[in-house]
Amino acid sequence: MTDLLVVDDLHAAVEGTEILKGINLTVAPGETHAIMGPNGSGKSTLANVLLGHPGYLVTSGTVTYKGEDITKLTPEKRGQAGMFLGFQYPQEIPGVSVVNFLRTALSNRTGTDLTVLELRLKVMDALKDLEMDPAFADRYLNEGFSGGERKRNEILQMAVLEPDLAILDETDSGLDIDALKIVAQGVDRLRNDERGIVIITHYQRMLDYITPDIVHVMLDGRIIETGGAELADAIEKSGYDQYRSEAAAT
Ligand SMILES: Nc1ncnc2c1ncn2[C@@H]1O[C@H](COP(=O)(O)OP(=O)(O)OP(=O)(O)O)[C@@H](O)[C@H]1O
Ligand SMILES: [Mg+2]
Repeated sequence: MTDLLVVDDLHAAVEGTEILKGINLTVAPGETHAIMGPNGSGKSTLANVLLGHPGYLVTSGTVTYKGEDITKLTPEKRGQAGMFLGFQYPQEIPGVSVVNFLRTALSNRTGTDLTVLELRLKVMDALKDLEMDPAFADRYLNEGFSGGERKRNEILQMAVLEPDLAILDETDSGLDIDALKIVAQGVDRLRNDERGIVIITHYQRMLDYITPDIVHVMLDGRIIETGGAELADAIEKSGYDQYRSEAAAT
């Protein structure tokens, strides 16, 4: 089976500074990967580059999605091809409700239009799973959303858009313990045999509810270790110092 995502020796720079220094990452259908690493190691930069954010310059290497080189593709085209980035639309869109945004996004993504009723039922189902008030569907996108609501809204978008590959940059958005659990379980429910998921997180806590198939440790723009779920436990216990000293010694 074709891999969903193959990142090959990816180097990328922001404002003339090289941040990603040779990333290799392969995600097969059905796999959930976690990327961990200390502050400033380049995790969000990687997510932004995978999204095709114009502020980041890929200086060498390639990103291949479903067998096609997408290194130069626009974010819109990546979305249409079934990639989902949790933070793709964090801005407020005045006058556009959550449900209407989803209607447009779904139509752009799949080219099919659900009826008003079909979409509403789908959204209501997802809101119920996320333990959210049905009235949320009619709020304006991101307007006055709390940190927890923003995160849940991302999972709502993912549930409705049904992407083939989701990349979730779980920034420290101040989720309380209950919200973290709901969001993590929401993501876990969206796992299936075809979908690839990449979760970027600092916190092992998150991984208590989503057991990743593969865990990567990122340090200074490189993936320096890859292992199973036990790697996240080891990091929780001993932190990143062991990797820092290894990196310094080479
Ligand atoms: N737009 C930018 N301009 C200047 N420097 C940047 C920019 N974006 C990222 N960087 C730098 O790149 C490095 C990696 O940042 P990045 O946000 O990718 O780290 P991170 O691993 O996501 O960190 P955190 O765990 O704190 O979220 C940092 O040193 C950061 O200052
Ligand atoms: Mg980050």
